[in-house]
Amino acid sequence: MSATPDKRDPRSGCAADIDAAHANQAGAPATLGAAPATLGAAPAPPVLQARGLCRHFVSRAHPLAARRVLHAVQQVDLDLAAGRTLAVVGESGCGKSTLARMLALLDSPSSGTLRIEGRPVTLHDRRALRSVRTRVQMVFQDPLGSLHPRQTIGQTLDEALRLATRLTRGERAERVDWMLHKVGLRSEQAQRWPHMLSGGQRQRVAIARALLPRPKVVVADEPVSALDVSVRAQVLNLLMDLGEEFRVAYLFISHDLSVVAHIADEVMVMYLGRCVEFGAREQVLRHPAHPYTRGLIAATPRLQPQAHRPAGVAPTLRAEPPSPWNPPPGCAFHARCPHASAICREHLPSLREVDGRLVACHHAEALPR
Ligand SMILES: Nc1ncnc2c1ncn2[C@@H]1O[C@H](COP(=O)(O)OP(=O)(O)O)[C@@H](O)[C@H]1O
Ligand code: SF4
Ligand SMILES: [Mg+2]
Repeated sequence: MSATPDKRDPRSGCAADIDAAHANQAGAPATLGAAPATLGAAPAPPVLQARGLCRHFVSRAHPLAARRVLHAVQQVDLDLAAGRTLAVVGESGCGKSTLARMLALLDSPSSGTLRIEGRPVTLHDRRALRSVRTRVQMVFQDPLGSLHPRQTIGQTLDEALRLATRLTRGERAERVDWMLHKVGLRSEQAQRWPHMLSGGQRQRVAIARALLPRPKVVVADEPVSALDVSVRAQVLNLLMDLGEEFRVAYLFISHDLSVVAHIADEVMVMYLGRCVEFGAREQVLRHPAHPYTRGLIAATPRLQPQAHRPAGVAPTLRAEPPSPWNPPPGCAFHARCPHASAICREHLPSLREVDGRLVACHHAEALPR
């Protein structure tokens, strides 16, 4: 993650030049997900690398009104390595889905660079995009909305293979049948329509569709939060088992820290579009350094029972997040932070290493542990 505040004018970066601007990373600031470099895990070349990723949205109340800019994602750097799971957490509206869509090549960054297996990607270069698109797949929150209502399950899965491979029809049918069993469904369910399946079964189909092209990266945006509590664990375990078997790198978005505690290798905490803490799961969830992370954990009783709450953890997050259309100066968390001081209200804290993790807080070292 970049250790420097965002000094660019995001309006200048709309062309989404996801190019080689950051090709030479020598001397680059600490980065995310490649956690190895900063956090001591085993080094592995990233299959997906983002540098300085930004996405903003522009709005005008009417044609003559001044334009307003919402910075949904700001200066996110991350590396995803094969077989690892990076979880992105934060309250609703903090930019998780916007980040997910950029990483899944469904949306263009306003600025920043994106590389897949070392190669720069741009959404404007259709030919290049076609060759990398199958390497990154997405699993959405709503399995019914993400499946074509007029295609049987078999047709949906066959299409995923047809677009990604040169297999013959017979070979595809065999592969689809094999994958149906892998995700815990039966061969005859290929003839069913999405509405004939349960929510859990539909999400199994969505997972099958994502994995059939043998992607390197799967971006899963709240993949179990729309499911009945009774099937969430099964679907999570399925995702994890298949991820391990296929050596997929997961970017796993969730607002539920108890889910993240179950599946993540590394955790990135976002607040108002920025990463505020990143580190190994145990470190971030058991010994959170950023007051916002502490507030999130305190609000997840299953994860952090009252009796074991670390010193300094805020009992609850005070108030609502500020409007992203009009963010406060300095640290965007200052109005809700029990530790805020004058510097917090004026200066944006940079992301820096503290006790083996990255944290964006002026007072991270001084806070009670
Ligand atoms: N297409 C869009 N146009 C305008 N604002 C958007 C758009 N998509 C997302 N946003 C805004 O960007 C911010 C981040 O949204 P999102 O990435 O969906 O957050 P999350 O997934 O963490 O809930 C929110 O304030 C949201 O309203
Ligand atoms: S920089 Fe200041 S306001 Fe922001 S989290 Fe740290 S102590 Fe709180
Ligand atoms: Mg979302």
